[in-house]
Amino acid sequence: MARYLIEGGTRLSGEVRVHGAKNSVLPILAATLLTKESILHNCPKLTDVDAACNILTYLGCGVTREAETVGILPQSQDCCEIPDSLMREMRSSVVFLGAIIARCGEARISLPGGCELGPRPIDLHLMALEKLGVEIVETHGNLECRVNGRLKGATILLPFPSVGATENAMLAACTAEGRTVIHNPAREPEIEDLANFLNRAGADIVIGEKGSIYINGVEQLGSVEYDIIPDRIEAATYLCCAAITGGEVLLTQVVPAHMEAIFPMLEEAGCVVKVGEDTVYLKLNGRPSPIKLVRTMPYPGFPTDAQSPLMALSCVASGTSVYVENIFESRYKHASELARMGAKISLEGRVAVVEGVARLHGAPVVCTDLRGGAALVTAALAAEGQSEIGHISHVERGYQDLEQTLSALGAKIVKA
Ligand code: UD1
Repeated sequence: MARYLIEGGTRLSGEVRVHGAKNSVLPILAATLLTKESILHNCPKLTDVDAACNILTYLGCGVTREAETVGILPQSQDCCEIPDSLMREMRSSVVFLGAIIARCGEARISLPGGCELGPRPIDLHLMALEKLGVEIVETHGNLECRVNGRLKGATILLPFPSVGATENAMLAACTAEGRTVIHNPAREPEIEDLANFLNRAGADIVIGEKGSIYINGVEQLGSVEYDIIPDRIEAATYLCCAAITGGEVLLTQVVPAHMEAIFPMLEEAGCVVKVGEDTVYLKLNGRPSPIKLVRTMPYPGFPTDAQSPLMALSCVASGTSVYVENIFESRYKHASELARMGAKISLEGRVAVVEGVARLHGAPVVCTDLRGGAALVTAALAAEGQSEIGHISHVERGYQDLEQTLSALGAKIVKA
């Protein structure tokens, strides 16, 4: 199994071009099922993207890839089932459900399995689909979904602004009969990107000023060519990597507006952050300062996906930082791995208290999940000596060319 070997202690410096957003491209790949033909640019090379393309191929689509452009040509006789083996490759494959039902009037998938971030139920996805007229039967871990005739527009109130449930509802509603309103939807930039993609293909979706989403169903979608937005979490990770080494980095091809909750935290940690039109520059001299309180929240709050790389930075701060994880029940699995490198983190439910230490030391550690893995890489860059990071398949789900990118900034990292 591949691992990263990182010799810590080198100051990072240089420029990074940020790739397309993983969390945008996955639902948009599902959405391509509803189009005549789609061409996606700025599509990152990630194993999760490969998994989504495998699902599209299985469903009968022609899929081509050249560099960061992916072409999808759905066929008329599409299959409506995702086999268990493909569902398990990627937890977020559940977002295909709304698109398959909208296209075929039925869908069969297995339930996405137990999860590294704690329980990840899909009750809100199913509730939204039922509102739109889908009949759902669950047997032995499989979901059989069917709709009598066409899906029907409805008012959907999400008790929690789930990203995936909002996406599934949008996908099912955009070709439903009549009008759908989604109240309390997720407001992440990736939701807006999905709406923009669908509208470009001929859908009629408006995100209201108060956040509700209004969808007038159209008969069908046409052909579309689209650029995926930059990945704000990949961007945040590289900022943390540069900061922890007392270095500097210029990120290009970013949307700074999508990262507004992240900058104040980095500034509190002592970083100088300069925001350009589509660039972000960061520099940190010396040791980071502690951050009083980091609370993860739905967008526009601080993103849960950036919690772990930022926590790595707090591990070497000159004081104590407090984290509260409000989105996922169990998203501190990286804490015990960071402890192997000398970090002092105490956990109490959703709260993590991080007491900064002067120096981390290299150690053998394993990635427990995608962003937790990013935290270990971040920490290893500043640790004294060599770290051996195992189970990096988690990291490769969400970071394109990580070792080349960090090497270009001066890091001593190899994949072995
Ligand atoms: C998406 C992102 C993930 C990010 C998360 C929160 C993708 C591919 N993944 O995941 O990187 O960390 O948003 O920003 O875009 N919940 C329920 N019932 C449901 C659905 C969700 O209780 O039916 C709960 C979840 O267990 C979790 C919370 O809601 O505690 C947030 O989940 P959600 O917003 O749905 O996240 P994902 O779409 O899975």
